Amino acid sequence: MLLTQSLLIPLFGGAAAAANLYTAHYSGTISHLSFNNNSLTLVSAEKTGQTLPSWITYDAAGKKLYIPDENFVDPTSNGVLVSYSVDANGALTKTGNTTTPRGGVATVLYGGKDGKGFIANAHYHTAQVSTYKLPLKDGKPLQLLNYTLDGPGADPDRQEAPHPHQVLVDPTGNFLLVTDLGSDKIHINKIDKKSGKLTKCPSTTTFYGAGPRHAAFWTPACSKSSLAQGKGTVLYVANELSNTVTGWSVSYPHEGCLKLTQKQIITPYKGNSSAPEGASLGEIRVQGNFLYTSNRGDQSFQPYDSLTQYTIAANGSIAWTDLTSSYGLLPRSFEINKAGDYVAIGDQNSDNVAIVKRDTTTGKLGALAGNLTVTGPSDPNSGNPVGLNTVIWAE
Ligand SMILES: *[C@@H]1O[C@H](CO)[C@@H](O)[C@H](O)[C@H]1NC(C)=O
Ligand SMILES: *[C@@H]1O[C@H](CO)[C@@H](O)[C@H](O)[C@H]1NC(C)=O
Ligand SMILES: *[C@@H]1O[C@H](CO)[C@@H](O)[C@H](O)[C@H]1NC(C)=O
Ligand SMILES: *[C@@H]1O[C@H](CO)[C@@H](O)[C@H](O)[C@H]1NC(C)=O
Ligand SMILES: *[C@@H]1O[C@H](CO)[C@@H](O)[C@H](O)[C@H]1NC(C)=O
Ligand SMILES: *[C@@H]1O[C@H](CO)[C@@H](O)[C@H](O)[C@H]1NC(C)=O
Repeated sequence: MLLTQSLLIPLFGGAAAAANLYTAHYSGTISHLSFNNNSLTLVSAEKTGQTLPSWITYDAAGKKLYIPDENFVDPTSNGVLVSYSVDANGALTKTGNTTTPRGGVATVLYGGKDGKGFIANAHYHTAQVSTYKLPLKDGKPLQLLNYTLDGPGADPDRQEAPHPHQVLVDPTGNFLLVTDLGSDKIHINKIDKKSGKLTKCPSTTTFYGAGPRHAAFWTPACSKSSLAQGKGTVLYVANELSNTVTGWSVSYPHEGCLKLTQKQIITPYKGNSSAPEGASLGEIRVQGNFLYTSNRGDQSFQPYDSLTQYTIAANGSIAWTDLTSSYGLLPRSFEINKAGDYVAIGDQNSDNVAIVKRDTTTGKLGALAGNLTVTGPSDPNSGNPVGLNTVIWAE
């Protein structure tokens, strides 16, 4: 009897449980938001102690958050990578930090027994990737990977040096990829899961002036059982400077390195038309057999920008499907929730989180279901970037 009751109470009482979201803002703040049936509210906000918190990596199983620091203006300074634990109500407690090189813009967990033994950081401004053993303790990085430019890039302002923009782990957990906007390359590293050591594999060069920023993997449903082989896996890369998406077939030559073979290039716009002047691709996400990008500054839904939906065919090729509003300016960040029925969009220049409905069957993005201004404020005279840079669901 008692057991039945205790099972029933959470079923009824907890059916409409609120979802927790977190945002990072260049004003130096992390905010905890709550979303429940069309109501998006601020629970709390605090300074992280960093100069420019720039990204959030959430560990759902371990209930932890990691935030890198983009601090870069003073070349003699460092960044600080911080970790928080998350309690049952979503409240945060700082658990550790370590100094890092400057310019941290993204992190990813990798290696160890559960894929969460180590953390890698992409450093845009120092052309490096740094790695640390977890839990975080102040000290030297486990490893620093330094990148150099082969020759001048197409964009003299953004491609004067290598600029690692994201670090991501492939579906097998054996390789760590680095999208390098400055050198038009995707760097590939083999992971030693036990030691966390990365070994460089040959990099893949994308087209001149592409500007690879962020990327996402897709694995066909039919190859899930043979995931170790990763058969049919595709990597979709959002190229910021050229406003294109490149689809790369992923293969695993026996005992070798992960290999990328270009299969497709398309734009985020209907009929493969070019991006409007001033647009720049932001985030890219896969959900089931759909791919999405955010299109910053394209003003497709004036005054707002847009998100593109693409449909992924069984062979991994993508087709443009829809363009919808970002309900704000410069959608730098967006993430789809676990159930797939809502998308949280982080609009950098309008400092708001917009939540839109998502149809789990068609993948279509629909009406605005929540909107909250997450104020900094950022100091516009600091020479630093400003605004809301990240939103994530913590589920
Ligand atoms: C959710 O919100 C809508 C409109 O805001 C309301 O009509 C509905 O009754 C609410 N549902 C619950 C379960 O609170
Ligand atoms: C890093 O940890 C040290 C020692 O606990 C603490 O004094 C410092 O405030 C922390 N820095 C940040 C940015 O959390
Ligand atoms: C990478 O660069 C740092 C200086 O930023 C240097 O201390 C380190 O030795 C370099 N590492 C390698 C492997 O070249
Ligand atoms: C779509 O546009 C891209 C970028 O301009 C181009 O590289 C690609 O070949 C085009 N694809 C098709 C099918 O026309
Ligand atoms: C992949 O599938 C799509 C949609 O079915 C088709 O149009 C395309 O030709 C296929 N591409 C290849 C390389 O087989
Ligand atoms: C979101 O809320 C802010 C502040 O209330 C408002 O200025 C803005 O227009 C809203 N955005 C949308 C898309 O409704």
